[in-house]
Amino acid sequence: MISVTLRSETDYSEWRAAARRLLQHGVPPEQTDWRGPREMTSFLDDLQKPWGSLSDTNTNTVVPRAFPELAERVLCHTDPERFAKLYRILFRLQSDPLFLNDSPHDDILWLHECDHAIRRDRHKMHAFVRFKKVGEGRFKREQFAAWFEPTHYITRLTAPFFTRRFPNMDWVIITPHCSARWNGQILTFDAGGKKSDVPTDDALEEHWKTYFQSIFNPARLKVGAMLSEMPKKYWKNMPETALIPDLVASAKVRQNTMETHGVTAPNPLASRLRSNQYPPPQIPDTFEDLSEISDVLTLCKNCDLYKSASQPVMGEGPDMSRLLIVGEQPGDKEDIVGRPFVGPAGQLLNDCLKQAGLIRSEIYLTNAVKHFKFVPKRTARIHSTPGSVEIKACNMWLQKEIALVKPEVIIALGATAAQAILGKAVTLEKIRGCPLPTKYGPTIFVTYHPSYMLRLPNTNQAMEIQKTFIEDLCQAALYQKPEK
Ligand code: URA
Repeated sequence: MISVTLRSETDYSEWRAAARRLLQHGVPPEQTDWRGPREMTSFLDDLQKPWGSLSDTNTNTVVPRAFPELAERVLCHTDPERFAKLYRILFRLQSDPLFLNDSPHDDILWLHECDHAIRRDRHKMHAFVRFKKVGEGRFKREQFAAWFEPTHYITRLTAPFFTRRFPNMDWVIITPHCSARWNGQILTFDAGGKKSDVPTDDALEEHWKTYFQSIFNPARLKVGAMLSEMPKKYWKNMPETALIPDLVASAKVRQNTMETHGVTAPNPLASRLRSNQYPPPQIPDTFEDLSEISDVLTLCKNCDLYKSASQPVMGEGPDMSRLLIVGEQPGDKEDIVGRPFVGPAGQLLNDCLKQAGLIRSEIYLTNAVKHFKFVPKRTARIHSTPGSVEIKACNMWLQKEIALVKPEVIIALGATAAQAILGKAVTLEKIRGCPLPTKYGPTIFVTYHPSYMLRLPNTNQAMEIQKTFIEDLCQAALYQKPEK
């Protein structure tokens, strides 16, 4: 038995160096005993003694491109077996390079579950770290500190996100296992700390609460969805959560007041001034999470639709949905509310999803084009189909959403969505309802758009199409990988 004791819980290069050595000696996983630093006894003895007698059998390590990234994330999981299990997978990859695609295998299921847990934990850290102002340093740089309790050992992996988001302030994020410190130039890591290391009072807290209160939209309140996005275990370190019970209790009354006041259209002059005032934004190549995409999308001027629409409409749904549905573009109601599929087509889609046994809140819903294209007619705004120029200009947003959500199945509703997903104009009837596998990506299904059913004058035909549409949804859902 070869015993490997690692110095770090999460250092991928240390684990990789040990795993490579084991592979070079052809040591099978069942003859290894991996330990993390918690169980550390005598590191050097363990690592060196038993290896000396082994001769090299294999010097080429085979690693599929996806493995290092996955392994680096999964090493941050708290599963004490992770070092050994990752080595078992790596060992198997030497003789079976496609092993990572063997999704029903227990080790691969474990790998993806851990990866999912890490991505979720990082997402929560991005969203729920709350900095408190602790003072000012040299050159009057503001200094902030935050206490956060992640589920896994993700601090090192996640801290670089905050250097990009808050480059101009000094900050420290303290967690039980590790603390990360940024001074505007260098990010350093140190031992973990305690909640009491971060002061409880904060001059900015009242401003933050006022801001939270003002952006809390009672018309969009869904307590279940809110609790699933913002689990209670994070509440104790987030000052605004103290306001939530009152905001929920008063939501109905506030919503009624808003409804009686009606919708206020944006002032066209203000939009024109705003759009002339700023140059087109620099759009980063990669985004850490969907909220970052949403922030930058508000500045999009990739085509002219931003000039007349009220706002871009970002997709919505869990950030790791297995099913992603793409529509055409926001309609009149979506443009005003700022959410996809909330108008009549959205109502019909909701009904059909229910009949297909699917739950909307588990699906990521988005559109091929993010701004509403319309022609004004008296007081109404009449839908106008987006053209290839707009579909192409908007495609980067859709691709970025897909890259982050990583769905197993994509359903394209109608020809515009199909064109955006497949990269070429297609005849819907020719490809409708058939799985279109992509080599490494999700399976794609193309089906009708709910608006098409709403427009059909013949009720019988509309019912027939709706039946087929629901069957298409059911069939597409079958292509999701089975849950363990
Ligand atoms: N139609 C779409 O394609 N998308 C929406 O969000 C609403 C209607």
